[in-house]
Amino acid sequence: MAKIDPFIMHPGLNNMRSHYCGQITTKYLDEEIQLCGWVHRRRDHGGVIFIDLRDRYGIVQVVYQPENQAIFKVAETLRNEFVIQITGKVHHRPEGTVNPNMHTGEVEIIASDLTILNASQPLPFNIDEHQNAGEDVRLHYRYLDLRRPEMLQRFVFRSKVNKIIRDYFDENLFLEVETPILTKTTPEGARDYLVPSRTHKGQFFALPQSPQIFKQLLMMSSFDRYYQIVRCFRDEDLRADRQPEFTQLDVEMSFVDESDIQQLIEGMMQRLFKQLLNVDLPESLPRMTYAEAMSRYGSDRPDLRIPLELVTVCDELRNVDFKVFQGPANDPDGKVSALRIPNGVSLTRKQIDDYTKFVGIYGAKGLAYIKVNDRSQGLAGLQSPILKFLPEEAVMAILDKLDSQTGDVIFFGADKKKIVHEALGALRVKVAHDMNLVEEGWKFLWVVDFPMFERDDEHGDWTPLHHPFTAPQAHDIEALRNNPGETLSRAYDLVLNGIELGGGSIRINNLDMQKAVFELISISEEDAQEKFDHLLKALEFGAPPHGGVAFGLDRIVMMMTGATSIREVIAFPKTQTVSCPLTSAPGPANPQQLQELGIRIVASKKD
Ligand code: AMO
Ligand code: AMP
Repeated sequence: MAKIDPFIMHPGLNNMRSHYCGQITTKYLDEEIQLCGWVHRRRDHGGVIFIDLRDRYGIVQVVYQPENQAIFKVAETLRNEFVIQITGKVHHRPEGTVNPNMHTGEVEIIASDLTILNASQPLPFNIDEHQNAGEDVRLHYRYLDLRRPEMLQRFVFRSKVNKIIRDYFDENLFLEVETPILTKTTPEGARDYLVPSRTHKGQFFALPQSPQIFKQLLMMSSFDRYYQIVRCFRDEDLRADRQPEFTQLDVEMSFVDESDIQQLIEGMMQRLFKQLLNVDLPESLPRMTYAEAMSRYGSDRPDLRIPLELVTVCDELRNVDFKVFQGPANDPDGKVSALRIPNGVSLTRKQIDDYTKFVGIYGAKGLAYIKVNDRSQGLAGLQSPILKFLPEEAVMAILDKLDSQTGDVIFFGADKKKIVHEALGALRVKVAHDMNLVEEGWKFLWVVDFPMFERDDEHGDWTPLHHPFTAPQAHDIEALRNNPGETLSRAYDLVLNGIELGGGSIRINNLDMQKAVFELISISEEDAQEKFDHLLKALEFGAPPHGGVAFGLDRIVMMMTGATSIREVIAFPKTQTVSCPLTSAPGPANPQQLQELGIRIVASKKD
């Protein structure tokens, strides 16, 4: 619980209470005090009633003795979560009853008065740190769920994160500027949430997927340094670290390069981790290229707490007869990678079958493996269904390359690069968790040198890996047009323990380059005018070089508090099916609203 300085008269204190529950220690012995709070627990002990009284700052024990008959009778009617006001004197607890685990554990309040401010129905679940009700019930009664000290603490923490960030950016001359929520599309790779306009029937606002274009426009307004803690909206498939509305720490700066922005963010992370967790982060965080991250970890957000790596073994397998390996080893778009798991020989047939099914989710057609029962015995010490297809020297070369030891299992992925990376990258994480190989600590990584574009799975068109305002590393438009697939971008992501915390880039500030990028990603000129005219026009009036970054604030708080989902650090989150069990949103609109908006609902077939 947050400790508050007992000597400061807190602005929250007023006529109804003289102190906070969590504040009462032996400092206040013999003082007459008045507290307000919730009945956390009531215990009757041999004619004495003990109340654990709880407020935002903690819990203190209040004692009602039978001598004061009238008050005692009222105390007997107390139930969990009644809201009460008490008056009493602070005493030392009797010997043997001191609770060293509680901040207030040395004292109790012998009460002389009691007012019930409000009663409570029996609760659908206990307000108890260790109580785990189902998430639907928790979200339906979120206001009760938030009474749990553990939940409350996360929001105290989140509020401090906001304060530290605001102070930091303020000290660094940033202006906090608000950007519109009712706006036009900002493409960040998700669907837009649309809001129908009443005054322009048939027209829609889009809720921002990010303030991307506005923050660039602010640079063109000469604001130089902008930040905002801002709500963003994305209609996309939800995961533990995704919500349809979430909060970004959004930043943009003029006249900077990548390292200026990275250094600024490193300073912020250092301050957050030092002040809130007393963790010293290194002066500068490590950087790795996208290509290296993909090839060593099969992911552009590698969890570096896991001491396992993918190793490319194409060279060793180019000339083997085994088609499963030989094909991808010689295909420029394909590859064969190996993943060595120390002590993996203990994996059973069933476990390996399960891992084979697991990589199947990512499109892998199989999962070849070699068990190294005894490295000193050469081929005879190995066990594997594929040995019969491979020449001895290839197998030995691979074992050497992986520095393989007795006890290892080596998994192989052979396919298109994308499939091998995704499948073995995910397997690396899964095996590490299953075998308890994930180390402790905070492993940050800047991933840099992303490709500008990737092929979209559906139509094979180029799509931006980040958003289409990201500057290419290409010197000129021709170079970009000639080789879009090989061109790298000036984007960077910050990853922590396998989670993408944030990302950004240096932007395009040249009109022709911006048009060329739109063209490459098949946004026609009319489309570009229609959607992004405001940006294109602004690029004509002295747009400075600029760049920025945005962080998922919910993700930062989730990681720092050790929560398992961002829902745990958002006061009123949506469920997996994008609804709010508390308010029952979304709900129908009434016919008059629809009429005013010029909207008619068409029943779908299944209705
Ligand atoms: P990007 O799309 O990478 O970049 O988003 C930045 C960060 O926002 C967080 N995030 C989310 N958090 C919770 N739920 C979601 N649905 C969700 N989507 C994204 C992630 C992510 O790293 N305008 C660019 C930034 C820039 O270029 O400056 C942008 O929005 O932590
Ligand atoms: P098969 O020739 O299909 O019987 O496969 C022989 C072994 O190679 C089995 O252990 C398969 O799991 C494995 N295997 C098949 N396809 C692949 C692939 N694309 N990548 C890795 N292993 C594979």
